Parts: sequence; C-alpha cells; structure tokens
Amino acid sequence: MGVVGCGLMGHGIAQICAQAGWDVVTRELDQERLDAGIGKIEKQLERAVEKGKLEQSDADAVRARISPTLDYADLADCDLVIEAITEDLEAKLAMWREVDAIVKPEAFFATNTSSLPVAAQADVTGRPERFLGLHFFNPAQVMPLLEVVRAQQTADEAADLGFALGEKLGKTTVAAGDNRGFIVNRLLVPYMLDAIRAHEQGVGSIEDIDTGMKAGASHPMGPLTLADFVGLDTLASIADVMADAYGEERFAQPDTLRGLVEAGDYGRKTGRGFYDYSGEKPVATDPAG
Ligand code: CAA
Repeated sequence: MGVVGCGLMGHGIAQICAQAGWDVVTRELDQERLDAGIGKIEKQLERAVEKGKLEQSDADAVRARISPTLDYADLADCDLVIEAITEDLEAKLAMWREVDAIVKPEAFFATNTSSLPVAAQADVTGRPERFLGLHFFNPAQVMPLLEVVRAQQTADEAADLGFALGEKLGKTTVAAGDNRGFIVNRLLVPYMLDAIRAHEQGVGSIEDIDTGMKAGASHPMGPLTLADFVGLDTLASIADVMADAYGEERFAQPDTLRGLVEAGDYGRKTGRGFYDYSGEKPVATDPAG
C-alpha cells in the first residue's frame, strides 16, 4: 500500500492500513513533514499500548510495516496508492502524473479528496478504470465511515476493491457519486458554514453555538470546534469548490472564515482558529474582532 501525504488524514490512513496488516510506504514532501506524521503514528501506538489495547510487540510490528520515504520511486511495487495531499486539484494532478509513471500498471489508485472531482484525477493517469475515491473521516483511526466514490471511468473491480478495503479496515462503507462533497460533506460543510454565519450575525457566542449543538442535538463536537478540527484551510477550499459547483450562497465562505485563513489561523493544526489551543483548555477567540 502506498499513502501519499502524511498529514492530518494521511498519517491516520497509513496507521489503520498497517494495523490491518498491510505494508505501507508513506511519502511526504520533506523530512520535517514526514517526521511529524510518523511521530503522530508512534504516539497513537504508544497510547494504545498504555491503554492495554495493543501489545508492545504488535505496536512494534505495526510501526515496522510503515516505511517512510521522500521518494515516489519507493511506491513502484504498491498494489494500491491512496493520496491524502493538500486539497488542491492542480497539486493532485501533478502528483498523479508523476506517480502514474512510476507505479506498476496493474496497481489501483485512490484519492481521499473531500470535494474535488475523482474523474478529473483519473483522467490524468493511464489507468482511469483502476481509479476511485476513498474518502476517510478525521480522525481516520476512529471515525467508522468510508465513502467509496465511483467516477464515470471506475471499473467494477476498482469499486469492489474499495468496499473490500473498507471491510478489512472495519469501516462502514457507503457508495457515493462523484459529485462535489459526496454525501457527508454535502451536508456537513454548509452546516459548519452556517454556524460561522450564525456567529457573525450575533445568534450566539462561539461557545454557546458549540454547546447548543452538543447538548441540543447530541453532536460529539459543536460546529465551530469541528471546523477547527477539520482545518479551516481545508474547509475554505471545500467551500470554494462547492460554491463553484452549486452556485448557492449557503456554500460560500463567510467573511470570518476567509479572514482566519488569510491570517494563517487554520484551527487546531496551527494552534488557533475559532479557539486558541495554546493553553490547557481551548479558549474562544474573537475571530471577527
Ligand atoms: N487519532 C486517533 N485516535 C483518536 C484521536 C485521533 N486524532 N482523537 C481521539 N482518538 C481516540 C481516543 O484515543 C479515544 O480512544 P479510546 O476510546 O480507545 O480511549 C477515542 O478516540 C475517544 O477520544 P476521546 O475520549 O479523547 O474524545 P471524544 O470521546 O471526545 O472523541 C472524537 C473524540 C472521536 C474526535 C469525537 O469528538 C468526534 O467524533 N468528533 C467529531 C469528529 C467528526 O465529525 N469528524 C468528521 C470531520 S469531517 C471530515 O473528516 C471530512 C472532511 O472531508 C472534511
């Protein structure tokens, strides 16, 4: 298995695949990012051992199945390559062109895109029928769902592989069409954007909006905490793609989101977004102020 990108999603995908028994080659752009991603996996494995959920020898075996690399050439023998790089179509297309030229022709390719067209990515490879979308949810180690996305070109064999992979990973799978946002983000993204607009319009404070949805609708996280958790840069990219595709105001980026992203405050991953994560507990910021 190859996993390209070892960030928020990539490290989790690499970990669960290694835990399911596959040898995983994980590729990053530079050593710093690679070390950070592998460090996260090692920490998760350590915690699992501490909690008594994993024997030390099993954790060691999982770690040993993961081979970090900076070199696409190490993906050459993979049977399946999953990409989890930045949510930018041009970057993904450039990556697939490079990977397609290196990886054996019978291998399958999958994109973990949240919103970009699977078909457009399949088209730049010489194996569009062996290309599909596999959309994991954050944190990939915990969230039970896998959306299996079939583009126009995806052959039955590739779609079947997606469902079989989900089963082996212990995920619940759903079939989603190659529309922008698939099933979950189509519904979840406008909800998070609406929560941001509600805050802009003075409907409630950041904490009260979050508490409202947690205590009033039994959501595990409030929408603004969730936006920080997903990454505000990612949320903004998805919003742009969906606004472009559907032409509806509810998918457009609210000003507060645009401002936070422009300031480099991407949420939890940068330590600041709707909340400040530098202290022991997250503290709401004043993003519109
Ligand atoms: N990586 C690995 N494991 C994690 C983790 C992480 N980042 N975060 C939490 N966990 C594990 C914990 O170790 C813990 O495991 P055990 O039960 O074995 O002890 C378990 O998950 C529960 O964690 P906590 O007790 O710390 O906290 P919690 O009960 O509040 O759960 C949560 C944390 C699972 C993240 C929960 O808050 C939740 O489900 N939040 C909503 C997440 C969500 O909606 N994700 C989808 C985002 S949308 C998306 O991803 C799609 C997209 O394209 C944008």
